[in-house]
Amino acid sequence: MAVPAPRRDARLALLGLTKRFPGVVANDRVDVSVRAGEIHALLGENGAGKSTLMKMIYGLLAPDEGSILWEGRETVIEGPLHARRLGMGMVQQHFSLLESLTVAENLALTLNRRGRWEPERVAARVAEAEGRYGLAVEPHRPVHSLSVGQRQRVEILRCLLQEEPLKLLILDEPTAVLTPQEVAGLFEVLRRLAAQGLSILFVSHKLDEVKALCERVTVLRGGRVVARRDMADVTVDELATLMVGDRPPALRERRAVAGAGEVRLALQGLDLAPDHPHGTALSRASLELRRGEILGLAGVSGNGQQELLAALVGERPVPADCVLIDGEPVGRMGVAERRRRGLRYVPEDRQGTGAVPSLSLIDNALLTRWPKATRFGWVSLAAARNWAQAICERYQVRQAGVGMPASSLSGGNLQKFIVGRELDETPEIFVVAQPTWGVDVAAARRIQDALLALREQGTALLVISDDLDELLALADRVAVISGGRVSSARPVAEVGRAQLGQLMGGRGLEAEVPDAAA
Ligand SMILES: Nc1ncnc2c1ncn2[C@@H]1O[C@H](COP(=O)(O)OP(=O)(O)OP(=O)(O)O)[C@@H](O)[C@H]1O
Ligand SMILES: [Mg+2]
Repeated sequence: MAVPAPRRDARLALLGLTKRFPGVVANDRVDVSVRAGEIHALLGENGAGKSTLMKMIYGLLAPDEGSILWEGRETVIEGPLHARRLGMGMVQQHFSLLESLTVAENLALTLNRRGRWEPERVAARVAEAEGRYGLAVEPHRPVHSLSVGQRQRVEILRCLLQEEPLKLLILDEPTAVLTPQEVAGLFEVLRRLAAQGLSILFVSHKLDEVKALCERVTVLRGGRVVARRDMADVTVDELATLMVGDRPPALRERRAVAGAGEVRLALQGLDLAPDHPHGTALSRASLELRRGEILGLAGVSGNGQQELLAALVGERPVPADCVLIDGEPVGRMGVAERRRRGLRYVPEDRQGTGAVPSLSLIDNALLTRWPKATRFGWVSLAAARNWAQAICERYQVRQAGVGMPASSLSGGNLQKFIVGRELDETPEIFVVAQPTWGVDVAAARRIQDALLALREQGTALLVISDDLDELLALADRVAVISGGRVSSARPVAEVGRAQLGQLMGGRGLEAEVPDAAA
């Protein structure tokens, strides 16, 4: 395809940017230009090179070749501080907040260059920004106590509050864990800011959002620009095809599962105090996972999902008979004992608890699988290597070698690896949070397909997601969690989106789940 040269008079013009990593050319002579006030989408499948490109613009990576024109002038961006001084802000794909500090302290750290931003003042600005941008965050909460959706809001706010006048905002999958209402609110803010002249680079795998928000789109494949379009000229389907070079496969057909129905994992009337001052207390939480069935748990992230998952899988001990596996009380048992009874899980925080970024993929595979790769007390590295390789092949994880650290994988590829690692063992009972977070359309289908396939093999599944479409496509029954209360599970065929939305907002749940006796 003939690619027009980027306009040199644009606010930002990338000319022939190239970045190589060991074994891969992540960006190959990429040309992109962004005008003042333009919202520009960057699309591409997992590993196409989107984050790498954004990091070069923001000074987090140095290009191997090519140049960056900022407001018409060739500019070497020395680092994030320099980028911020030029008027850029970036929300990275992986969170960059310090866990042990509060929200206000985190914001003060980045905003505090001239020493004028005490956390107290930041808290006041946060409160003001909440009104202006509709992004609610609690300034005094420590970051480790926040759900992924809440962390995402802090990251976005951090950019919007920065002192230098913003000219370019780089958003690398900012909406992956936001609720539909928050996304709508954020888009309204972005449109308003763009109308005032802010340029926005927007990366997302949610093509409907991209279509609704952006004016122009550049598509990357294998590090190269393969298409540029005005958004008005393309449909969502065409965008998907441009990204993956083919139409994404349809989801497999749901089949009736013989012998379904026996309860494998149950949570019974669990009252659970939060383990930190800002967590969500669970009130009389109950649910049942049945053989050959997917139970969907819908809810706005931060409403007790983390606590519920921790109690179910054994990260937090609870009274023994509050959690049952095949009728056996396991509430006091730890993760390993529950694993031995067939329970596998994928937490929502894939960088913290799901994988160790500095370890190789082989070691990350071993994290949950070491018993299988151990013979007479010795870990077989060859077996582990083969297994890591098999996961990568089966789930099409793009990587430059299984000996490479997990941190070298693109966001979506790491997610595919972690989910693949757990799926691969055909778990009998499977609990997964945000299974398709940040994976591209084709890979999302593959993961959803694998979940449906497990269901057919008799696995009892719990899928926790704030993506209602995903839950409605996958689940047999859906329950809603809101403010630590879990609704009864309803057959998907019998509930409407509107009803679920109301329950997610907490309406009607008090009647269904009485308050815990204090
Ligand atoms: N620090 C690194 N070391 C080695 N390889 C890397 C590093 N960072 C990225 N890569 C590789 O560069 C390629 C592009 O990765 P990048 O993160 O830019 O993809 P992406 O388009 O953002 O994908 P995703 O949609 O999954 O986030 C991938 O093959 C990735 O493995
Ligand atoms: Mg990325």
